[in-house]
Amino acid sequence: MELMLSAIKPTGDLTLGNYIGAIKNFVKLQDDYNLFVFVADLHALTVRNNKEDLNRWIKEVAAIYIACGLDPNKATIFNQSDLPQHAYLGYILTCESYMGELSRMTQFKDKSARGNNESIGVGLFIYPTLMAADILLYDAKYVPVGEDQTQHVELTRDLASRFNHYYGETFVIPKAIVAEKGARIMALDDPLKKMSKSELGDNKGSIRLLDDVKTIRKKIMSAVTDSDNLVKYDIENKPGISNLMTIYSSLTNKSYDEIEDEFRDGGYGNFKKAVADVVVEEVSKIQVKFNEIIKGDYLDKVLKEGALKAGAIASKKIDEVKRKLGLII
Ligand code: TYM
Repeated sequence: MELMLSAIKPTGDLTLGNYIGAIKNFVKLQDDYNLFVFVADLHALTVRNNKEDLNRWIKEVAAIYIACGLDPNKATIFNQSDLPQHAYLGYILTCESYMGELSRMTQFKDKSARGNNESIGVGLFIYPTLMAADILLYDAKYVPVGEDQTQHVELTRDLASRFNHYYGETFVIPKAIVAEKGARIMALDDPLKKMSKSELGDNKGSIRLLDDVKTIRKKIMSAVTDSDNLVKYDIENKPGISNLMTIYSSLTNKSYDEIEDEFRDGGYGNFKKAVADVVVEEVSKIQVKFNEIIKGDYLDKVLKEGALKAGAIASKKIDEVKRKLGLII
């Protein structure tokens, strides 16, 4: 089976965007690929966190993977910082990268456009080279991600080709897999902005997978829409309704045409209520499993086993890279 790899950064409570854009696809793909999925906790260090929050988020990501249906007997699930090989290859790939290409990475570009470069952390600047290491360490052929991560996979491809060119065939060139639908779920309070886990506080724009049912309903019922009361998919002119349609469609597998027919006479109130119903149904199932998994030491066991399996592959790759570079092994 071909190797497929992806990860989530524990920088907040996971959202419906993470679920629809990423986790739900991992679950679907685990039967057909040798799937590696990890918690990208080193990536979380590019921003300053309170250690209790970070610790909780790390466990939360791992537990949510399993609660959403990832099966540790099929997929290899681990925590990035358990394997020093990631940071090791990250350093080597940083040495292969150019200031210019890293300056063009959206996250850094956005932040530097907003303020003073002097105080942007270097970790944020080189974050994409660590992500490249995450992927190349395992010779992953496919990387399922939401739309915002495709630029990083492109950089990974460039770095892999560059390394192969200078030091001989070493890395598999990976390919991003972006779902046709749901690769960019937008914020409910501002459908021009991506739904994000990193906003703290009450975050009306994001449905958190661990939000209580009442909060979820409230957030969906007060989602920002236009006022023409017509349920129609039109991303340009009706971004709010189109976003809700994408959510509904992703969770029910109904097409946009079917949804338009279903709510032709119902107006926005009925439609929002239907969206809330399917989200609540899906999220409730996840929460029940999550609450079981987070107790006891099952999660520790899964992560340890995952790290052992991933570590064996990663160490071999590091040896190969060292040999290619002329470092002594
Ligand atoms: P992160 O933690 O920001 O997001 C995790 C995954 O969720 C997707 N996603 C979304 N999809 C649809 N709509 C949204 N609103 C939405 N928000 C997030 C992301 O595209 C992603 O697939 N750098 C990565 C983590 C990472 C990684 C890797 C991924 C580290 N190493 C190696 C793949 C391979 C990140 O910050 O994702």
